[in-house]
Amino acid sequence: MGGRISPSIMCADFRNLETTIRALERARVDYLHVDIMDGSFVPNFTLGPDFINSVREMTDIPFDIHLMINRPEDFLPIFAIRPGDIVSVHQEATIHLQRTLQQIRDTGAKVSVALNPSTPIYTLDDILDDIDIVLIMTVNPGFAGQKLVPATLGKIHKLKQYLEQVGHSHIEIEVDGNVSCENAQKMRLAGADIFVAGTSSIFKKDQDLYELTEKFREYIT
Ligand code: DX5
Ligand code: ZN
Repeated sequence: MGGRISPSIMCADFRNLETTIRALERARVDYLHVDIMDGSFVPNFTLGPDFINSVREMTDIPFDIHLMINRPEDFLPIFAIRPGDIVSVHQEATIHLQRTLQQIRDTGAKVSVALNPSTPIYTLDDILDDIDIVLIMTVNPGFAGQKLVPATLGKIHKLKQYLEQVGHSHIEIEVDGNVSCENAQKMRLAGADIFVAGTSSIFKKDQDLYELTEKFREYIT
């Protein structure tokens, strides 16, 4: 199976959201990556529950909800999570991580834990049985349009090897941040499975979203 595409909808042109969604449906993307920020865990605010509900009415594409918020366990119910979605919480943002992951599991969504560039892989050691996906942040979270943290390419490879060594090769790797075509190709070689496509690959001013998505797919097959 080739790499899967999860467009970062915070990077979309909100003046033409319906058109964007239709182009992404036509391009057969696998998820819609929805970044939620609280101005505390990261110094920014983006989308919220009302946005999620309105986009839900437009499309059946599953959501890939990336919670860059402190105490995500307190807020899960407001995001109308559905079976088939992915929900990522940051390892750094919840004291009782295993319980928070169980709460996500109880919604029927795929369970994902996100690691900031500086957070070591060994922090996953005791929750491998609780997750389906590891979201490797390849930039420091909070903003679109940032530059890749170079060390994260090696981190993807290290994680892939680690998961194989400990008998958890079924756990998938998602990458998020400056996932350009060129970076995506390197990330794929390093072991990534799901690619958050944003401003450096498919959301480019005055360029065709469908065409860019089809081109991006060639780099992750
Ligand atoms: C950053 C978000 C990313 C971001 C990706 O905190 O998690 O999803 O929107 O944007 P690009 O691809 O432009 O880095
Ligand atoms: Zn994200």
